[in-house]
Amino acid sequence: MVSASPIRGVTAQSLTAAVQASFAAKSESPRLTGLLSLLVQHLHEFVREGAVTHEEWRAGLEFLTACGHITTAERNEFSLLSDILGVSSMVDLLSHAPGVTPGSVLGPFHNHDSRMLQDGADLIRGQAGEAVLFEGSVTDAAGAPVGGAEIDFWQNADNSLYPAQDAGQDAHNLRCKMLTGAGGSFTIRTIRPRPYTVPYDGPVGKVLTATGRHCWRPAHFHLIVRAAGFRPLVTEIFPEDDGYINSDAVFGVREGLAVPFETVTDPGEAAALEMRSPFVQVNFQIRLAAVASG
Ligand code: BEZ
Ligand code: FE
Repeated sequence: MVSASPIRGVTAQSLTAAVQASFAAKSESPRLTGLLSLLVQHLHEFVREGAVTHEEWRAGLEFLTACGHITTAERNEFSLLSDILGVSSMVDLLSHAPGVTPGSVLGPFHNHDSRMLQDGADLIRGQAGEAVLFEGSVTDAAGAPVGGAEIDFWQNADNSLYPAQDAGQDAHNLRCKMLTGAGGSFTIRTIRPRPYTVPYDGPVGKVLTATGRHCWRPAHFHLIVRAAGFRPLVTEIFPEDDGYINSDAVFGVREGLAVPFETVTDPGEAAALEMRSPFVQVNFQIRLAAVASG
């Protein structure tokens, strides 16, 4: 409980408590009041500890204004800011239940209207890129198969671009939904994803440049997995040997999400699996957290 503090004659010592008390007085939501109170406490501490000047604070506000100006329905600079500051990943890491597949960042290229395709679907459809046989399975935390789980899958093309960035691609290119079979497994025929730069032509890009940071993400598949009785999982899968695996601009790589992408050169094996030769094999087990768990 924050004690009432006088606002008239406020000082650097009394200001924080005064602002906190202003939220507490008639709030409809204790949770909102609590979070605002913490935010004020940490923002005030930031200004105090950093000895932030008028000019610096104004520059910060101008930066946020520029983020607002460049934000549209298709591009959210605040979301990107949250990603490059590691805040998206911190929220995700702190909500992770032990013993199940870690989550990762959603990114800006998810579409809700992907088509439901049959197990084994071919997303390659003759396009450029290394063919990948992506075989996955969905289980509960104890390893029991989860049939009927929905896999929502998307990735970028061999030119590193997502359909939203590339007029040359069909809007549904390299994305689909699929249901796992009774044994919890699913198979997607696709191509190797490519490393990719986060949008860096806006204010967030200026921060990356000014601080000597690069804007690359390691190659990845995106997945959202949903099943009745389980927490939805938003995650990504990375080739473990990607050159950016240790320096993802948005801090999305967790232990267990970086896996081998193994090249298979035997044409007989390729033919038996209805793949072109050579191809890349990826296996990934997804463990879901039950709704009630941790
Ligand atoms: C992506 O995976 O495409 C992405 C994620 C976070 C920020 C920007 C892009
Ligand atoms: Fe992505």
